[in-house]
Amino acid sequence: MQSKSTISKLTGSLLKLVAVSALMLGAAGISQQAVAGIANTKHNLGSTGAAGNNKTSDTGEICVFCHTPHAADTTAPAPLWNKNLSSIATGFTTYSTASSSTIDGEVLAVGSVSIACLSCHDGSQAMDNIINAPGSGGYDTTGGGANGRAYTWSGSSVNAQGVMQSSSIAMLGKDLTNDHPIGIQYCGGGQTAATPTGACKDTDFKGPGSGLNSATINSQLVWWVDSTGAGGTAGSRDKTDMILYSRAFAAGTGPSVECASCHDPHTETNPTFLRVSNVGSGVCLSCHVK
Ligand code: HEC
Ligand code: HEC
Ligand code: HEC
Ligand code: HEC
Repeated sequence: MQSKSTISKLTGSLLKLVAVSALMLGAAGISQQAVAGIANTKHNLGSTGAAGNNKTSDTGEICVFCHTPHAADTTAPAPLWNKNLSSIATGFTTYSTASSSTIDGEVLAVGSVSIACLSCHDGSQAMDNIINAPGSGGYDTTGGGANGRAYTWSGSSVNAQGVMQSSSIAMLGKDLTNDHPIGIQYCGGGQTAATPTGACKDTDFKGPGSGLNSATINSQLVWWVDSTGAGGTAGSRDKTDMILYSRAFAAGTGPSVECASCHDPHTETNPTFLRVSNVGSGVCLSCHVK
């Protein structure tokens, strides 16, 4: 039989345990909030995605449809990219061919991070055309080839093979004439933010001093337009800024607007993966002076 003091000691430790586990639960609650994000978005294509999303039941992984920790396509313009993009970068038309176009920036071929988005959003590829599938082995340099993995997909805007269907507004297709220009030179300050030069020096855009910034990060020159009031720090390149992508223009490396200039494919903070809220057209007014 246990003595009274042992029992009270036990009760004491039990209480402590309860307190500690409550603390741990609290902490877990906080860290769960911190890791929310992409899991709650339409970019969770795995089995844990919300009911009604386009998804597969064949894996519960999320990142794998875009990134892999090993054997990534090193030529891809997106980090540790798990798809072979070489076969899709052809046949696009962009806004510059629209009759309404009066753009004066240089237009480049569809590429950079936009091609990574379009590897699903042009409706030409199965979403499971990935190089390194979940689990041991599952490695295929072609990215699954024409037939992709043998995953089964469900959802209203993909077919059973996981190809985005034209019934979805998210399927932009190869004709991007009716979409905001991408692969387009950002004309807010010429080729370098510090010394605007050349024809591409449009005062209709935020320029140096009013938002356009450049910096050398890991020996690469990068540009961005600081967004206002979105939680980022002025003068530093944050996810809530409009990111401009370095591309080779005729006059040298310069800033280009791509899909991911306006969208962060991981965020659930704003609807439709926007980097900043578009209330009051905040996205548009981050770059355009209107
Ligand atoms: C639907 C495609 C997609 C999915 C799914 C995805 N990413 Fe990304 N990720 C991208 C793209 C595209 C970029 C490049 C964006 C850019 O250049 O700003 C990127 C960039 C990144 C970067 C570097 C830049 C940054 O924003 O920090 C990290 C780190 C990253 N992803 C981690 C992850 C992790 C971890 C997951 C899974 C939890 C994940 N991503 C899921 C598309 C995706
Ligand atoms: C990341 C910066 C950026 C953001 C954000 C942005 N734009 Fe643009 N936009 C550009 C650039 C650069 C061009 C090409 C301008 C040129 O070369 O003359 C352009 C072109 C356009 C054009 C075509 C102009 C023409 O002369 O034919 C329209 C219209 C337009 N944007 C509207 C919008 C709207 C609406 C939004 C918000 C939904 C928006 N833009 C957000 C940078 C941006
Ligand atoms: C692995 C495939 C894949 C890649 C890569 C991908 N997406 Fe998506 N995206 C999807 C699917 C699937 C949907 C859901 C479509 C639907 O519901 O009709 C979606 C939806 C979206 C939506 C609409 C979200 C909403 O709430 O309605 C946006 C915006 C978007 N993607 C932008 C991007 C951008 C920008 C990139 C590149 C940075 C990208 N996506 C890369 C598969 C992808
Ligand atoms: C200049 C900024 C900008 C660029 C560049 C841009 N988008 Fe968007 N995108 C937006 C805005 C703003 C919305 C929200 C529109 C709305 O609310 O209807 C949007 C909406 C979307 C949607 C959801 C459509 C819907 O109505 O459900 C998809 C999918 C999408 N974008 C994909 C892309 C892809 C892929 C690219 C590159 C080819 C791209 N976007 C380039 C600003 C941009």
